[in-house]
Amino acid sequence: MRTIVAGNWKMNKDRTAVMAMIASLRNVTIPKDVEVIIAPAFPFLAQAVEAVEGTAIRIASQNCHEAASGAFTGEVSAGMLKSIGVNACIVGHSERRQFFNETDAAIASKITALLEHGITPIYCCGELKEERLANTHAEVITRQMKTALGALDNEALGRLVIAYEPVWAIGTGLTATAAQAQEVHALIRSLLRTHDERIAETIPVLYGGSCKPDNAAELFANPDVNGGLIGGAALDAGQFSELIRIAGKVNT
Ligand code: PGA
Repeated sequence: MRTIVAGNWKMNKDRTAVMAMIASLRNVTIPKDVEVIIAPAFPFLAQAVEAVEGTAIRIASQNCHEAASGAFTGEVSAGMLKSIGVNACIVGHSERRQFFNETDAAIASKITALLEHGITPIYCCGELKEERLANTHAEVITRQMKTALGALDNEALGRLVIAYEPVWAIGTGLTATAAQAQEVHALIRSLLRTHDERIAETIPVLYGGSCKPDNAAELFANPDVNGGLIGGAALDAGQFSELIRIAGKVNT
């Protein structure tokens, strides 16, 4: 299983900063079996695709619209992303669910649109702080997984990346312990097994939520954690490179 280190830059970095970061990352040795993905904001995706040419770095967008085209002012379709060479797309991030009212049903349609265009969906799920405190996180994750992925056939499922991102850990400095992460990742794996035992073992399940160089080794070492979706620490070339190096140790 490959280990993925994906940087979600959110609404950070202008064109100069995006290009500077890519220039730094071009010098980083990407270990065998590690995949590096970065997700700049929409305006810089085309230039980012060109800037990573000849490297193993892949470019993701942070969102897309589920429709193919039409009167959806301000939106971007999966086909448009494909036309500029975007490889992956983060879908269902908790900030999209929370601030832009994205539903599991809309997220399911986005996943279908992305798969139609050969773009890898990075599907995010995760519980709120209240849900963790009420010990309902397993139910929440199960619902999110079933609603978003329930209708996919095995071939489609095999092309996904999943990210478990406990909302209470995102940007807060709080991290799930290695044991808390493994518990939910194992649940996600078991839900995937109900679709197909073999394919379930090939789907990377990333951890996200204040993942940094000082806690990544412990998190990535869990059997069902296959890397990280990184926010804050992905904005810094030094920290992100360190996370790539740590990911390389998992498979050795
Ligand atoms: P964080 O963000 O690493 O800053 O907590 C993770 C994410 O939102 O994907």
